[in-house]
Amino acid sequence: METVECTPSPTCLAESLRSVGYSMETAIADIIDNSISAQATAIDIFHDFLDEEPVLAILDNGHGMNRGELIEAMRPGGHGPLDARQAHDLGRFGLGLKTASFSQCRKLTVISRRNGMEPVGACWDLDRLHGAWQLSLLEPDDIQNTPFSQYTPSTCGTLVIWEKLDRITANKSSKKSYKDLFLEQMASSASHIGLVFHRFIEKEYDCHKVSFRINKIPVTPLDPYFSQHDSTQKLQQEDISLHGSTIAVKPYIIPHYSKLDGSARDALQKMGGANASQGVYVYRNNRLLARGGWLKLKSCKKEAYSLARVSIDIPNCHDDLWNLDIKKSSVSLPELVRAEIDTILERILERSIRTYTSKGQKLAEKKLALWVRLQGNKGASYALDRSHPLLDAFSRTLDDESRKRFDGILRLIEKGIPWEAIYNDRMGNNIEHMTPHSDDNRCEHEQSLIAMLRRQGVPEDKIRQISTALDIRCEQDK
Ligand SMILES: Nc1ncnc2c1ncn2[C@@H]1O[C@H](COP(=O)(O)OP(=O)(O)O)[C@@H](O)[C@H]1O
Ligand SMILES: [Mg+2]
Repeated sequence: METVECTPSPTCLAESLRSVGYSMETAIADIIDNSISAQATAIDIFHDFLDEEPVLAILDNGHGMNRGELIEAMRPGGHGPLDARQAHDLGRFGLGLKTASFSQCRKLTVISRRNGMEPVGACWDLDRLHGAWQLSLLEPDDIQNTPFSQYTPSTCGTLVIWEKLDRITANKSSKKSYKDLFLEQMASSASHIGLVFHRFIEKEYDCHKVSFRINKIPVTPLDPYFSQHDSTQKLQQEDISLHGSTIAVKPYIIPHYSKLDGSARDALQKMGGANASQGVYVYRNNRLLARGGWLKLKSCKKEAYSLARVSIDIPNCHDDLWNLDIKKSSVSLPELVRAEIDTILERILERSIRTYTSKGQKLAEKKLALWVRLQGNKGASYALDRSHPLLDAFSRTLDDESRKRFDGILRLIEKGIPWEAIYNDRMGNNIEHMTPHSDDNRCEHEQSLIAMLRRQGVPEDKIRQISTALDIRCEQDK
């Protein structure tokens, strides 16, 4: 059989590589993955405008690369998905450095240094490919003339520099300038890094610690579970075995919005709010891959789960099972584990949501509540407690016909509770715990209720209890 060489056109391939759908945030995160795989403990992002053009650099103090390793690193598709990887490696396709960079810029320079060696540098400029993948290797003078070269590692580490950032396009209808848009992207990159790498920043997770700074300002971690908060419920972790490796599933119930302080509320806002950020968080080597949403899990369609978060840790030998995409920003749940995860979540989350609501019920009981919570097979419902002394005493003042009508009115009230509005207001902490009516005749109404209870022979201590629970002033009446 005849064969002919059919190499892809470099220009055409390079332009296609640019369009795999990275955003600035996901592209920077992919460069950071390489730094973490190289055991870096400090990662600095620098950005600036040189001659009005934005430039960006990512510096790490990892083990760095020698000349040969750098050339391999710059090869598009070097260390591919079929090669075995070390357990801590965050790489996948051997493309990240190139595709992530080219998704944002046309000129990529990498300066790297192995311990005890001179720095080495290489550069791809898409405007200078001239029909071939001819990598430019930098002389010491070239290195010095590269933007941010003052940050060239003094012992070991790697500096990735992006120039010709041509993907920031100002919307014609927007008043924002090109510079504003770039700075906005930097701000949202800080949130993205804080979330995707939160385990590397926070002490409580068992992985090597990394500090992140953007233009020397430390990046704050965004912990989806508020795990340092006293009111977070950390539920029992369950492990699933798959192809000889373990998948760890750990559910959390985060505190209600009303229990969060200003900075925690701010963090929740950065993660999109309680509702949008509920769901499953998939990690691979402690790096967050997928955030929020329930990955079509059956067990988790309920509104009551808006406070639920589930971390799932997968090993990097399962990449193909989870359909990890090239940008490492989405996964899909393998059918092999879907049913098992569903069962775990159904059991654990259901119980915790019950605990959550039954706590509220006990509180209400203490207060001699007018409402009772009824747990049925299909879920909970609420009813007015007809045996409550207030309703009971009033009902006894009525004749049979009026009593029926009164009961009818109570049923209508029970049926017409605006669940959805209350739920939304509660999630947004938009509930005022007071009656919406004016207070003008409050005393008069309350006095007549107390008088009615007395006429019906309700004992004085019971009346006092009811008054306290319903915040009724009965002192002057005595
Ligand atoms: N910051 C870095 N420090 C050390 N080595 C790096 C760094 N960035 C990239 N490399 C090397 O370049 C290779 C290719 O990187 P990349 O294109 O991102 O693909 P992948 O991460 O999937 O292997 C890495 O496997 C690594 O050996
Ligand atoms: Mg990589």
